[in-house]
Amino acid sequence: MYRINENYQKLPGSYLFSTIAKKVAAYTEANPGRSIIRLGIGDVTQPLTGPVIEALHSAVDEMGKAETFRGYAPDLGYAFLREAIAENDFRARGCDISPDEIFVSDGAKCDSGNIQELFAADSKIAVCDPVYPVYVDSNVMAGRTGTYDPATGYWSDVIYMPCTEANGFVADLPDETPDLIYLCFPNNPTGTAITKDRLADWVRYARENGAVIIYDAAYEAYISEENVPHSVYEIEGARECAIEIRSFSKNAGFTGLRLGYTVVPRDLRCGDVSLNAMWARRHGTKYNGAPYIVQKAGAACYTDEGKASIRGLVAHYMKNARTIKEGLKSFGYTVYGGVNSPYIWLKTPDGMSSWEFFDFLLENAGVVGTPGAGFGPNGEGFFRLTAFGTYENSLAALERIKAL
Ligand code: MLT
Repeated sequence: MYRINENYQKLPGSYLFSTIAKKVAAYTEANPGRSIIRLGIGDVTQPLTGPVIEALHSAVDEMGKAETFRGYAPDLGYAFLREAIAENDFRARGCDISPDEIFVSDGAKCDSGNIQELFAADSKIAVCDPVYPVYVDSNVMAGRTGTYDPATGYWSDVIYMPCTEANGFVADLPDETPDLIYLCFPNNPTGTAITKDRLADWVRYARENGAVIIYDAAYEAYISEENVPHSVYEIEGARECAIEIRSFSKNAGFTGLRLGYTVVPRDLRCGDVSLNAMWARRHGTKYNGAPYIVQKAGAACYTDEGKASIRGLVAHYMKNARTIKEGLKSFGYTVYGGVNSPYIWLKTPDGMSSWEFFDFLLENAGVVGTPGAGFGPNGEGFFRLTAFGTYENSLAALERIKAL
């Protein structure tokens, strides 16, 4: 008789954004015709840019001719894309990363969920609180956590690093020593960035304690301030202790197209075992590569026209971020994020809990956001709005919130 992976049974409820989608669907069904503005999940709304569309069309045409047709992609990604990534995302910023350290995939979410496979089942993970739920849930599924305490919202055997107003939403080094440290900067959900000095503290700590940093830089394109590192590899020593995960979703709008990559430097070794070789083995066995046409679209993001078009998308969303942030502040809300990030992190008004505010906003303003408590206990009393809506919807949402 077969048995299931019991770890799945430990997971409470459904995935955060599925829960929200279900709640909104139920509300819409009960209130047909009510206009809803969705500023919940961080999904983009602007169409793919001209250079990306051109690249897609031409790659589709290539696939239709015998002489240019492509079958399976190389499992680590096409060289044309890995070279463009290494050159533009790393070497141009002084980071020593080569194409053979880049693994192209169908997105950062999958990579951030799968990367834990490289580590021992009894590895201790450290996560920020609040945190992007994928890091914790994927470790729960792998049996790397204890049990969930519904009273506290914490898992046993996980090191939580509180991110609060008091520490500017940047975690302090933990007292207990972890094996794996998940960091996301610019941060989802709080919208906070980290300075080079603070990130250097983490790299030093990881090296001193024999830990690996899994650095999620999916929102890197939104960095606008000096002294905010775009990559963990801007920090000396990071090649020996950090894996970085990147996405084409948030910068180039590929949420529906799917493309991302993970950097596993050759210097990241556990004894004489190369994690780069392990991840290559994993890709070879479990993955057949992102589609050629999508990788061509990804490469188009690194041409001069492609880069300019992405700057345009980011500027559009950052205008929304500024508008939402300044608007909320003028209505008396306490607001964070929105400077190096498309996420606005606000304190719920009148002592409402995060989920109470979610319901209140949906029912009274028809605006959907994400309850901070959904990201962890220290998110309680906070609420996340995304700047990924249209400008018109961002303004309309503000008007509705003002009228509450
Ligand atoms: C979010 O809303 O936090 C993101 O859309 C999640 C994701 O990119 O998977």
